[in-house]
Amino acid sequence: MNTAMGMLEGKVAVITGGTSGIGARCAERFVEAGARVVIAGRREAEGQAVARRLGAAARYFRADVESEPQVRDLVGFALDRFGRLDCLVNNAGHVGPMAGIAELDAADFDHMLRVHLRGAALGMKHAAPAMQRQRSGSIVNMASLGGLRGGWTPHAYSAAKAGLVHLSRCVAVELGEHGVRVNCISPGPVVTGIFGKGAGLAPSRADQAVAGLAEAFAALQPIPRAGRVDDIANAAVFLASDAASFVNGQNLVVDGGSEAAGRPWSSTLAQVRAMADQFMAGS
Ligand SMILES: NC(=O)c1ccc[n+]([C@@H]2O[C@H](COP(=O)([O-])OP(=O)(O)OC[C@H]3O[C@@H](n4cnc5c(N)ncnc54)[C@H](OP(=O)(O)O)[C@@H]3O)[C@@H](O)[C@H]2O)c1
Repeated sequence: MNTAMGMLEGKVAVITGGTSGIGARCAERFVEAGARVVIAGRREAEGQAVARRLGAAARYFRADVESEPQVRDLVGFALDRFGRLDCLVNNAGHVGPMAGIAELDAADFDHMLRVHLRGAALGMKHAAPAMQRQRSGSIVNMASLGGLRGGWTPHAYSAAKAGLVHLSRCVAVELGEHGVRVNCISPGPVVTGIFGKGAGLAPSRADQAVAGLAEAFAALQPIPRAGRVDDIANAAVFLASDAASFVNGQNLVVDGGSEAAGRPWSSTLAQVRAMADQFMAGS
């Protein structure tokens, strides 16, 4: 059952990183909920394919979030085609290698901040004026569990996402006075091609080669299944909708309970039992 039906009726959204994974699923869910969407990303063929699948309610616009003129033109394109802008999902991102601090690559670090933090900042900068004029809007920034807790994601990625959570709060207090809400979603591990791309696979191959991840991720959090793109897209629909009209400056953690509750009970039990076995063996 599509519980989101009608939740975004008449709204227009821009979704960066809409050519695959979480962003592509957000685009599908937004259209199912009644919105018209502009999806952005650098891969033209993938972007056009997502837009084609969604029909007249969707357009693809090629934009690299590292480029301010391209981000500005992306927002302009949405306003031009659809006449308004109700929601911006700053979702574009990538992940790098899990290297220690002594192996930090300065260029990779800068790149990570440029995409995840500066890219989202530019999106907000160029979307804000139109939303302020409308006196309504919802900005959803895709952060990460890695931005809240160490040990989940590479240092540069984690730092960029932590910065994004705080930047979102800062902008939320400013734009809230103009009827524009700014919130984050922090997903835990979600089955997408981002991991394969980070490991060096070609993007199109990585987007397909996700089958093994569902099993690998199933035991990482108290809910015993892997995070899915639908889990995140549903949260984005809620934050974009008027049902969330008093939700501002929040970071909605969608991770099956790792951050708020803790580690899976069965992992703790297994460790405690292994320790008990060791004590017994030594006594
Ligand atoms: N999957 C997870 O476990 C997880 C967990 C926490 C947070 N996240 C966050 O969720 C977001 C989406 O990731 P995903 O898992 O869905 O991975 P994905 O399938 O690889 O999607 C990443 C998207 O970002 C786009 N992108 C990357 N760099 C870009 C740039 N410079 N300019 C414009 N678009 C760019 C990619 O499109 P092009 O290649 O076409 O440019 C692609 O559409 C990311 O911000 C990621 O950090 C993911």
